[in-house]
Amino acid sequence: MQLQERGYAKINLTLDVLGKRTDGYHDLVSIMQTVDLYDTLTFSSLDRGIELTSDCSLLPNDERNLAYKAALLLLQRTGFAGGVRIELKKRIPLMAGLAGGSTDAAAVLRGLNRLWNLGLKYEELWEAACELGSDVPFCLNGGTCLAEGRGEILTPLKLKQPVWLLLLKPEIAVSTKNVYQALDLKKIQKRPKQEIMQQALAKGDVSLIALNLVNVLESVTLAAYPELKGYKEELRALGSNGVLMSGSGPTIFALAESREQAEGWKKQIHSRMESIIVTRMIPGEEGKEWREN
Ligand code: C5P
Repeated sequence: MQLQERGYAKINLTLDVLGKRTDGYHDLVSIMQTVDLYDTLTFSSLDRGIELTSDCSLLPNDERNLAYKAALLLLQRTGFAGGVRIELKKRIPLMAGLAGGSTDAAAVLRGLNRLWNLGLKYEELWEAACELGSDVPFCLNGGTCLAEGRGEILTPLKLKQPVWLLLLKPEIAVSTKNVYQALDLKKIQKRPKQEIMQQALAKGDVSLIALNLVNVLESVTLAAYPELKGYKEELRALGSNGVLMSGSGPTIFALAESREQAEGWKKQIHSRMESIIVTRMIPGEEGKEWREN
């Protein structure tokens, strides 16, 4: 038996941090959005054990990989007497602020629930997702969501139309943990207006979405890597009114009016980048299809 799942990347259209919690995490409020950029995972049944392979030599194929951890967690939680071989085709840049590792883990939860006929309900997979990481529950759901708590309390939001965008992933690796640790809550100057952003998304008003993009983690990552400010300026100079860092960074995205416009900008980026990707916001079809079954 063999089957496939896609793990989609996300961006944060807003990201606010409310305070530090006693468990070491931070309470946040963020509007998260799935984009049409995905890793593909192929699952094949094995009698025993977990075998992970990928086309990315930089990724470990053991417990250090969140996809492997997700498979191990499901085995432990269910006591299922079987195994799996997972082949990961990686397209989402690593350590980018695009939830690449988290989305692979979420795809493993969905895929193994099907492959092994575990019959786990959405809530049960959500619990496992929470254990794996703060972004994994969103990746399980996908689409457009308001994320609260650590990121695991999700409210689906309406997105009237997909918006095209350009993603720039510079050759910088950022540790999410370090960014949160360096954040001085007292120094946050501009916070996102979540309700206005929700209305803008529901109306499909690209200008209003662009005006309300705010990520309070930007100040930390941009201070550590000042070249990111230059990349943001470069995108603004090309004509984007909405330019923001995703998550803890370093990926910067720029909203466009059309695919053609984003493709045009891509050709004009002069700075050296690890990846430059034209993509668009999409509703979480994969998650929805699965939940309705
Ligand atoms: O949950 P995850 O392992 O992805 O988080 C990585 C790190 O980011 C955590 O160890 C924590 O330091 C920080 N974090 C946080 N508050 C959140 C999410 C992440 O402090 N809501």
